[in-house]
Amino acid sequence: MFKGRHLVEPGNFSIEEMDDLFRLAERIETEEGYLRESCRGKVLATLFFEPSTRTRLSFEAAMLRLGGNCLGFAEPGSSSASKGESLADTVRMVSCYADAIVMRNPKEGAALLASRYATVPVINAGDGGHHHPTQTLTDLLAIRRFRGSIAHLTIGFCGDLKFGRTVHSLAKALARYPHIGMRFISPPELRVPDYITEGPLKKEGIDYRETDSLEKVIGDLDVLYMTRVQRERFFNEEDYIRLKDSYILNLEKMKTAKRDMIVLHPLPRVNEIAQEVDADPRAGYFKQAQYGMYIRMALLASMVGSVS
Ligand code: CP
Repeated sequence: MFKGRHLVEPGNFSIEEMDDLFRLAERIETEEGYLRESCRGKVLATLFFEPSTRTRLSFEAAMLRLGGNCLGFAEPGSSSASKGESLADTVRMVSCYADAIVMRNPKEGAALLASRYATVPVINAGDGGHHHPTQTLTDLLAIRRFRGSIAHLTIGFCGDLKFGRTVHSLAKALARYPHIGMRFISPPELRVPDYITEGPLKKEGIDYRETDSLEKVIGDLDVLYMTRVQRERFFNEEDYIRLKDSYILNLEKMKTAKRDMIVLHPLPRVNEIAQEVDADPRAGYFKQAQYGMYIRMALLASMVGSVS
């Protein structure tokens, strides 16, 4: 079902297909050694034109745990992109060496372009401020595991909602699930783009509201999705410095949240979640990052390996 397909944005997979991946990830997590030979003899290329810790290393860990191998680069300076080679030529070449390509690139649309030239599946590991579909799968799996299902939930997105590609991908994906409400909490300069609110959210009739106050809405939330202000996407440092500490979640604010609200964050965090929150049982972000490896194992086994 997943063989030979690309994953450029979350909409590439149906709800039923994502459910299959979640079930597989849950089995991988709980059954020691399950699928450990699934990708024996397969090679994954990780092409990272932008920095990453979780996405690149969890993909590499996933492939190694499935019995496969990895090659690639962690920054473009060590590839022939630095000599001017086009992305199209790069992925054509890498298709000769690997069975699948995972790519992060600062340009919106880069993954879609790569998928048109590669002859093996391309998985988008983040394209500029656009999409990050495997983070979305990670986030949905985390919500499912922490809350039991992905339905009848009010999700708050807080921080940099303009440049945060994880927010764009997740809001779009959640709009396809039943009875989801959304609260977008940001300074006016970092509002969620209209193409998200006027597009999928309107189309699916999602109850969403925008505010600049976390305090006003935190008590209504079942899931709080915190995000970092994306310094690398600002045109001017002054604006970044003015906005970077707009929201800092601390234990004082957590007192007004529901007892079963869960705090997620795609990570890395900078200042937006105080370290004192880490010990709160509602802090789900480190476990969420671990789910990222299980869902990537499920994805690779389904796309290039064997699943039985
Ligand atoms: N969440 C995430 O994409 O983290 P990295 O930038 O470390 O890959």
